[in-house]
Amino acid sequence: MAPIKLEQFKKEIKTLSTSKASLGILISGRGSNMDIIIRACQANQINADVSIVISNNPNANGLILANSLGIKALAVNPSDFNSKHEYENTICELLADHSVDLVCLAGYMKIVGNTLLKKYDNKIINIHPSLLPSFKGLNAQKQALEYGVKFAGCSVHYVNDVLDGGKIILQDIVPVSEDDTEETLSHKILEKEHQIYPKAIQKVLASLKKSEE
Ligand code: GRF
Repeated sequence: MAPIKLEQFKKEIKTLSTSKASLGILISGRGSNMDIIIRACQANQINADVSIVISNNPNANGLILANSLGIKALAVNPSDFNSKHEYENTICELLADHSVDLVCLAGYMKIVGNTLLKKYDNKIINIHPSLLPSFKGLNAQKQALEYGVKFAGCSVHYVNDVLDGGKIILQDIVPVSEDDTEETLSHKILEKEHQIYPKAIQKVLASLKKSEE
């Protein structure tokens, strides 16, 4: 009989023991979206467990927050590695060790490179504070205000090799008032982010499950 490969074995054990998916969350800072995702999993609003939180920033507040919610959280500092490949390879190993099915970026401020993209092809999603494809990149809320849009919003999308350019999973809109500042608009958008991210994760997990059947 051919030997069972370790990855396959882990998958089979997981199928037997639980029907819940495993999420890995990558952060860089505050971690409010991460917080919402963890709580939604713990409240069974998402059919998954957050298995690991990884931050590229060792000082991210989200690390402390994740720990306080009983989630394993650690920093992987890119400056400890000789290349982006080595850095991302370490992240891939950690995600694989935790049998992660879906990687959720939540305020992760690094551009995802080929190593992660290849390993988790179509299994990395991100939340961005604009109605994509408008206002990609940094300071999306400021860009929206400067442009004078009357409706802003947020988008959850798949991650590919184009910055904020992957297929959109869910969006929601936020009306912009005359007196909105970058701060007030960011706050209103963040509230919407917290509503749509858990829903988008549930949607992606359902489609992953369907494609496995
Ligand atoms: C959010 O506005 C998200 O859309 C963007 O970065 C911010 C992260 O906030 N990608 P938090 O760390 O989830 O509180």
